[in-house]
Amino acid sequence: MPRSRMVSGFRLLAVLVGVGAAAPALAKDVPFVPTPQPVVDKMLELAKPKKSDYLIDLGSGDGRIVVTAAQRYGVTGMGVDIDPDRVAEGKQNAQQAGVTDKATFVEADLFKTDISKADVLTMYLLPQVNLRLRPVVLDTLKPGTRVVSHAFDMGDWQPDAKESVEARTIYYWVVPAKAAGTWKVEQGGKSTEVSLEQTYQMLQGTAGKDKVEGRLKGTEISLTMTGGDGKARTLTGKVDGAKMSGTGDGGAWTATRTGG
Ligand SMILES: C[S@@+](CC[C@H](N)C(=O)[O-])C[C@H]1O[C@@H](n2cnc3c(N)ncnc32)[C@H](O)[C@@H]1O
Repeated sequence: MPRSRMVSGFRLLAVLVGVGAAAPALAKDVPFVPTPQPVVDKMLELAKPKKSDYLIDLGSGDGRIVVTAAQRYGVTGMGVDIDPDRVAEGKQNAQQAGVTDKATFVEADLFKTDISKADVLTMYLLPQVNLRLRPVVLDTLKPGTRVVSHAFDMGDWQPDAKESVEARTIYYWVVPAKAAGTWKVEQGGKSTEVSLEQTYQMLQGTAGKDKVEGRLKGTEISLTMTGGDGKARTLTGKVDGAKMSGTGDGGAWTATRTGG
């Protein structure tokens, strides 16, 4: 075999088996920087985890968020990290804290992880990573899921709450139900067609000639209808798929979606 072909064959093998080359770098989107414990505590205080909740920390580092949630709130949680060393560290910290029955860690890419079962989603990532995650959060998480991010926002999705601790900002959102569309609202024997446009948790639209402004917090909805005379009436209630119901100025009300 000519010498030149032998050399190129060796080079190819070296690349394939990693001979003489550094181990392939992990496809990390964010470096490991731990959240200070007081910030972890405040993140969980905001999320108010219940024992029955399932928490997922995306990019879990040494596991401190999942471990603290298990220790303090008795919450079952999963940390996801692409770095095997971090996953091992998370498992070790769960063991030391005596919460291995509640805190688990998996080695995976956060963008390839099914997060649909989360009731609480936590993260300390980067602005562009949060933005890539935003449609996944809005489209795959159940309405009402609490999302808490250390340091970075979600672009123009305004947080439902914001806290500062140790000069760090924490952002909190509640995944809104989907309420855009046309609704037949019935209240006190009267029926009104209400059209709603939705931008994240904010709603605006019309109810006949009245102007409607509203807001969602998970499945909770609040709609204020203002007439040309400036008189306003507010309806509050819950969205349940293609139905809504609640109480408000004028008594109990129900609504059925009539168009997308
Ligand atoms: C800033 S640290 C946050 C650690 C922990 N959540 C905390 O708040 O203390 C980000 C973590 O994300 C992990 N990471 C980076 N890219 C990732 C990816 N694509 N999938 C999963 N984990 C990733 C890193 O290995 C690192 O441990």
